[in-house]
Amino acid sequence: MAKLTLAQFIVFPAVFVFLIFVLLHLPPINQNPNPISHLSSSTPFNPSKTYHQTPDGRTRITKTSPTTRIEKGLARARAAIREAVRSKNYTSEKEETFIPRGDVYRNPYAFHQSYIEMEKRFRIWTYREGDVPLVHDGPVNNIYAIEGQFMAEMERGKSRLKARHPDEAHVFYLPMSITRIVQYIYRPPVNYSGNYLERLVTDYIHVIANKYPYWNRSSGADHFLLSCHDWAPDISTVTPDLYKNLIRVLCNANTSERFQPIRDISLPEVNIPHGQLGPPHLDRPPNQRHILAFFAGRETGYMRTLLFKSWKENDDEVQVYEHLPQNKSYSQSMGNSRFCLCPSGWEVASPRIVEAIAAGCVPVIISDYYVLPFSEVLDWSKFSLYVPSYKIPEIKNILKAVPYSRYLEIQKRVKQLQRHFVINRQAKPYDLLNMIFHSIWLRRLNVRLPLNSS
Ligand SMILES: *[C@@H]1O[C@H](CO)[C@@H](O)[C@H](O)[C@H]1NC(C)=O
Ligand SMILES: *[C@@H]1O[C@H](CO)[C@@H](O)[C@H](O)[C@H]1NC(C)=O
Ligand SMILES: *[C@@H]1O[C@H](CO)[C@@H](O)[C@H](O)[C@H]1NC(C)=O
Ligand SMILES: *[C@@H]1O[C@H](CO)[C@@H](O)[C@H](O)[C@H]1NC(C)=O
Ligand SMILES: *[C@@H]1O[C@H](CO)[C@@H](O)[C@H](O)[C@H]1NC(C)=O
Repeated sequence: MAKLTLAQFIVFPAVFVFLIFVLLHLPPINQNPNPISHLSSSTPFNPSKTYHQTPDGRTRITKTSPTTRIEKGLARARAAIREAVRSKNYTSEKEETFIPRGDVYRNPYAFHQSYIEMEKRFRIWTYREGDVPLVHDGPVNNIYAIEGQFMAEMERGKSRLKARHPDEAHVFYLPMSITRIVQYIYRPPVNYSGNYLERLVTDYIHVIANKYPYWNRSSGADHFLLSCHDWAPDISTVTPDLYKNLIRVLCNANTSERFQPIRDISLPEVNIPHGQLGPPHLDRPPNQRHILAFFAGRETGYMRTLLFKSWKENDDEVQVYEHLPQNKSYSQSMGNSRFCLCPSGWEVASPRIVEAIAAGCVPVIISDYYVLPFSEVLDWSKFSLYVPSYKIPEIKNILKAVPYSRYLEIQKRVKQLQRHFVINRQAKPYDLLNMIFHSIWLRRLNVRLPLNSS
C-alpha cells in the first residue's frame, strides 16, 4: 500500500454547491446588470428612497417599497462580493478582527466579503404565531440541541440580525422544532399514519400565508425551517409543492432523500451536554496523540455494521468500540487520537464531526450521500479525509499512508477551523451560529424577489 496518496481518498461523493461561484458567475434571475449605477455619486443614499435623475439634471425622489429596498441592498452585497473576488481584498466600514485566509476556504475573499455584508445588512424575522410547546420551544441539550440553541438565539437573544419589523426582513424563520413536536405528538406512542407532523407544519404555513403577504410573495423561497431531527425531511412528503422553495436547514442532509444543496442547508449535529454549549476542547499536540484512529458508539445503521465487522475491538491502532471500557474516557480518547472516525448512523450526520474538530482530531468521514456542513464556503478535502464504505477494511493502510508532514498540515487546519464549530450564546463572529446565519444569507443572495409584488 506504499503508493497510496492522500489525494486518492479525499474525493467527496456528495454534490457540492459552489454557491459563491453560482452567485458570481450566474447572476440571479432578473437581476439588473448594474442596479446601483443610476445613483449619482454625490447623492447620499437613503435606503427608503429611490433617486431618479430627470432629463434636466434634477433629482426626483420617490418612496421605495420595502421589497425594492431589500433587493437593492442585496444587489450591493453581490457587487461587493464580486469586487472582493476580483481585487482579492475586502471593504468594510469597521475594523475586521478576523480575516479568513488559507485553502480551507473555497474562496476566502468571497466568504469574507459575504460575511461582512451579512453583518451589515442581514435581517431575519421570526414569526410570532403559535404557542409553546409546539412552536417557539426546542431542546438545548443532547444530539438535537442545535434546534433549541438556534431558536433561543433568534427569539430571546439580542442578535443584531433580528428584524424589528417583517418589512425589513430578508428571510422569515418558522420557529418550530421538529424534535419538540415529535416529543409531544408521538409520546405516548400514537398512530404514526396520521401525518401529524406534516399537518402541523403545513397548518402553520397556511396561517402565516393567510395573515401576511410574505410567504405568497416568494412562494416560500425566503422562508426557512431549521431542524436536526431525523424526520424533518418528512414534513414535505404529503404536499411537496408547498415546500418546493422553502429553505430547509437540516442535519439529515442526505442527497438521496431529496436534500438539495442549492436550496437546503446542511446543519452540523452537536451533542450538547447539560450546562455546556458543546464538546470539550482538547489541545494535545500531534506528537502526543498515540492512537491512530478512534471510534466509540452503538451499531446504528449499515455503515457501523461494516465498521464493526472489520475493526471492532480487534486492533491496537484502529480502536473501535461498541462499549467503551470503564477506564477509558470518550473525549480523552478523541484528544489522544490522530484521526477520529465519523461513520453515519441511522442518518447521514454524526455529532462526531464537531467533537473531532473540538478535540483537534482529524475527522474521517464515512458516509454516503452526505453534504457536509458549510461546504459552500469550506473545502472539507483540506481538513478531513473521506473513506468510502467499500474501503472500510483498508482504513488502517489508508491512514498510515498519510505522511506525517501531511498529517501535521491537516491537523493544523482542523485547529484553524475550530472557531467555526463553536457555539456561543450570544453568537460571536464566525462561530457556529453565525456560520448557519451565513449559509441562510447565501441562499437568500441567490434569490431575487419580483419587484412589482409589494
Ligand atoms: C485590503 O483592504 C484593507 C482594508 O480595506 C486595507 O487596509 C489593506 O491595505 C488592503 N490590502 C491590500 C493588499 O490591498
Ligand atoms: C391510524 O390512523 C389512520 C388515519 O388517521 C386510520 O385510518 C387508521 O385506522 C388508524 N390505525 C389505527 C391502528 O388506529
Ligand atoms: C396567499 O395565497 C393563498 C393561496 O392562494 C391564499 O389563500 C391567501 O389568501 C394568500 N394570502 C394573502 C395574504 O393574500
Ligand atoms: C482498562 O481495562 C482493561 C480491561 O477492561 C485493561 O485490559 C486495561 O489494561 C485497562 N487500562 C488501564 C490504563 O487501566
Ligand atoms: C440516505 O438515503 C438513502 C436513500 O433513501 C438511504 O438508502 C440511505 O440509507 C440514507 N443514508 C443514511 C446514512 O441513512
